[in-house]
Amino acid sequence: MDLLDLARTQFAVTGGLHFLFVVLTLGMAPLVALMHTRWAMTGRPHHEAMTRFWGQIYVINYALGIVTGLVMEFQFGLAWSGLSHYAGDVFGAPLAMETLLAFFLESTFLGLWIFGWGRLPRWLHLACIWLVTLTAYASAFFIMLANSFLQNPAGSVARDGRLELVDFGALLTNKALVFSFPHVVAAGLFTGGMVLVGASAYMLRRRTEQVEFFTRSMRLGVVTAAIGVTFTMGFGYAQFAGVQDGKWDNTGAALALALMMEVGQLLGLVVLLVMLPLIRFLPRWRWAHPLLVAMTPLPFVLSIAGWVAREVGRQPWMVWGKLTVADAMTPGLTAGMVTASLAGFAGVLGLLAVVDYVLIARAIRRGPREPDLGAGVPGETRTPALSL
Ligand code: HEM
Repeated sequence: MDLLDLARTQFAVTGGLHFLFVVLTLGMAPLVALMHTRWAMTGRPHHEAMTRFWGQIYVINYALGIVTGLVMEFQFGLAWSGLSHYAGDVFGAPLAMETLLAFFLESTFLGLWIFGWGRLPRWLHLACIWLVTLTAYASAFFIMLANSFLQNPAGSVARDGRLELVDFGALLTNKALVFSFPHVVAAGLFTGGMVLVGASAYMLRRRTEQVEFFTRSMRLGVVTAAIGVTFTMGFGYAQFAGVQDGKWDNTGAALALALMMEVGQLLGLVVLLVMLPLIRFLPRWRWAHPLLVAMTPLPFVLSIAGWVAREVGRQPWMVWGKLTVADAMTPGLTAGMVTASLAGFAGVLGLLAVVDYVLIARAIRRGPREPDLGAGVPGETRTPALSL
């Protein structure tokens, strides 16, 4: 591998591993907010149990995912200073907004939500999780805005060898953004729904005592996955209108796209034509549960295929038609330096991903009896799930 390929691999590995966390965050945040809303409105113990159990899964994923975001910032600075120099005036602002929203606002509201349990007034506590959701989506919007600028550098002109922003509105209405952002959001919902389905299927298969809890969770997961996959497919087709001419001449991008579309459509058919109509029976059909568990990783795989299609198709451009990837690299880098940072980043991110899934699996296996989230706080209901 030459230097350029090494640097590209580094970006693909860090970006891909980071997105595994992001896509679950995007899917779980509105679900947990919805569960909490039902709990706040009805006061029923099983809504509290749902909020605490699935909220805990969300918190684990967020806590480890935020660290992977830090690695993304590092690798931008290390390997791609040519991009900052040429397009930093345009690209830097949305990237900074994303960081501010995800690192500062989202984590602050999440902290208030976790530690305000039983302490904050009911509606203020509920507002915290909705603000977590809002900031998660706002940060996703800004990162998609930055990425869409690389795909189609709207709203900017080249002056003195650098890009300058001349029309912020054009950045917001970029044809590469308008359908890709909802495509990603819908993919997140689909992923979140499938995680609820897979985890519930696993627990029901193990003959858990919490049958009612996981039956409700599975049904919510199926409905969410059905809504998510419908919009993913709809916005996926709409996205073609914003794709640059000649993008699919790139064999790698075309292959990743074909994988994503074919498996995505098949999965969509299974969710909409089989799982949704049979939603009443699925929780009881133990023979089907291993299949549902096996389907859980697919939305993650498809999301990575989607990014491969989008990013590989952009080659050889970093900023389409303006700056090549080769010119965007930091001058003076050596293959040894990039190999060392690639090994370091891949090691850290890979480890975080493994730890994430191990912790999530452990939390799921423990079941909803005594989740750590909201435990030991004033007014705690000891084991809300037991009353189910
Ligand atoms: C019929 C199904 C689908 C179609 C027609 C479709 C279409 C597309 C297209 C055209 C792109 C690339 C856009 C570009 O290069 O600018 C893309 C990217 C992407 N897709 Fe899909 N897709 C489908 C299903 C899925 C599924 C099921 C998932 C995940 C669960 C998914 C996740 C993604 C992601 C994360 C990206 C990268 C970001 C973006 O461009 O939106 N897609 N999709």
